[in-house]
Amino acid sequence: MAGRTKIKELLQLKPENQQVTVKGWVRTFRNNQFIAINDGSCLASIQVVIVLDQFDAETTKKITTGAAIRATGVLVESQGKGQAVEVKAEEIEIYGVSDPEKYPLQPKKHSLEFLREISHLRFRTNTFGAIFRIRHSVSYAIHKFFNDKGFYYIHSPIITGSDAEGAGEMFQVTTLDLNNVPKGEDGDIDFKEDFFNKPTNLTVSGQLEAELGALALSEVYTFGPTFRAENSHTTRHLAEFWMIEPEVAFADLTDNMDLAEEMLNYIISYILENHDDDLAFLEKRLAEEEKSKPQHLRSPLPLREKLNNVIAEPYERVTYTEAIRILMNSKPNKKKKFQYVIEEWGADLQSEHERYLVEKHFKKPVILIDYPKDIKAFYMRSNEDGKTVAAMDILFPGIGEIVGGSQREERLDVLRKRMAEMDIPEEEMSWFLDTRRFGTCPHSGYGLGFSRLVLFITGMSNIRDVVPFPRYPGSAEI
Ligand code: 4AD
Ligand code: MG
Repeated sequence: MAGRTKIKELLQLKPENQQVTVKGWVRTFRNNQFIAINDGSCLASIQVVIVLDQFDAETTKKITTGAAIRATGVLVESQGKGQAVEVKAEEIEIYGVSDPEKYPLQPKKHSLEFLREISHLRFRTNTFGAIFRIRHSVSYAIHKFFNDKGFYYIHSPIITGSDAEGAGEMFQVTTLDLNNVPKGEDGDIDFKEDFFNKPTNLTVSGQLEAELGALALSEVYTFGPTFRAENSHTTRHLAEFWMIEPEVAFADLTDNMDLAEEMLNYIISYILENHDDDLAFLEKRLAEEEKSKPQHLRSPLPLREKLNNVIAEPYERVTYTEAIRILMNSKPNKKKKFQYVIEEWGADLQSEHERYLVEKHFKKPVILIDYPKDIKAFYMRSNEDGKTVAAMDILFPGIGEIVGGSQREERLDVLRKRMAEMDIPEEEMSWFLDTRRFGTCPHSGYGLGFSRLVLFITGMSNIRDVVPFPRYPGSAEI
């Protein structure tokens, strides 16, 4: 398949009647003359011009939306508006036909809901092309950021015997025959007969394994799939999502915040620099979509301005205690406009509260620290006050929580006491406690929800639209 030039490169060339070959999928065929071909290398399609009677009718009747074709011809300056260059076709080859009566993607606007139903084909639209090109680059920028800083990429296991968050809500993994489950004498399931001789599940987080790595390699990160069997039907939750979890030895909560903020800004800058066409398209799409919404539900800023604003200024760093004070004094709380009215210190924050702080009060990203220990995980480091832990959540406009992390409890006695209070069995966690027994040190880390960041950068409103094949309750197609 040599000799093909991708459209992204073609559009950069100076037209000098040079011979070129383009391969891709037909977007439109207008006036029996102009074929728009897209190959996914960039947002733009290239215009291929044909003179109908120079080609046999058998071929030209197969040039329909969705067909895969090759066009070979000369690259010339475009006569029409909208593109600098076009291809004057000399040869057309059809690789795969696409029956226009049956092809679900007509050259018109389709709703995102409809496209979700045909997730196997939605890659072929401008919107999803832009999203998935950006998604790729976000992933690349993350690896580049950490690599350039000297972090090592650790693969944490996908199947695990532990529950890192102590939160339950896990998918079980078993090879037992569900129609004939082996039982012990006490009537309980006999997991000795299962593949791993014990109950196992899909991981909810790679953090605990990352901690093991950090206490030897100093600076590590995981970037892998995680699974939560929570029955969430929101626009921010998936049952399967990728998480980036850096873990750093000899780092406290401030170092952790600095790292997370630097990382987020690096990625956003990388996308602004490398995906202006895609962002410009998504910005226009968002403005169109929001035309039908009431003013108070529209984004306050165009997409690229929103992204530039995030990187322009330091994020606001606020304690949980201060945030509760702000929320309790806020209009929506006093007027009981929040679905969950904040009554007292200790309340867990809902996304409506997080978004109030970010969008209405501070009008920029917020890092909330020092949460009450009772609403956070067992491994977070206890503060001097005995009530709070050195936790941090980063809240973004339109998203709410995008990063969750903490300084870790490195003191063996304090950690054991906390585990006992929270009913976390020590026997199963002895490997974790060993890091505190042998050469423990202050360390910190966090988890970034990959798709939540892609959601923020693309300006889409539903996380199901930034993941190629989203998993959520009742849905695991393909
Ligand atoms: O706050 P979470 O649950 O933190 C942890 O799992 C820690 N072990 C991370 C760490 O300290 N290494 O999840 C981290 C992030 C959230 O801030 C959110 O962005 C994302 O993961 N997240 C989800 N994204 C999509 N769907 C879900 N169901 C998510 N749950 C969490
Ligand atoms: Mg969290």
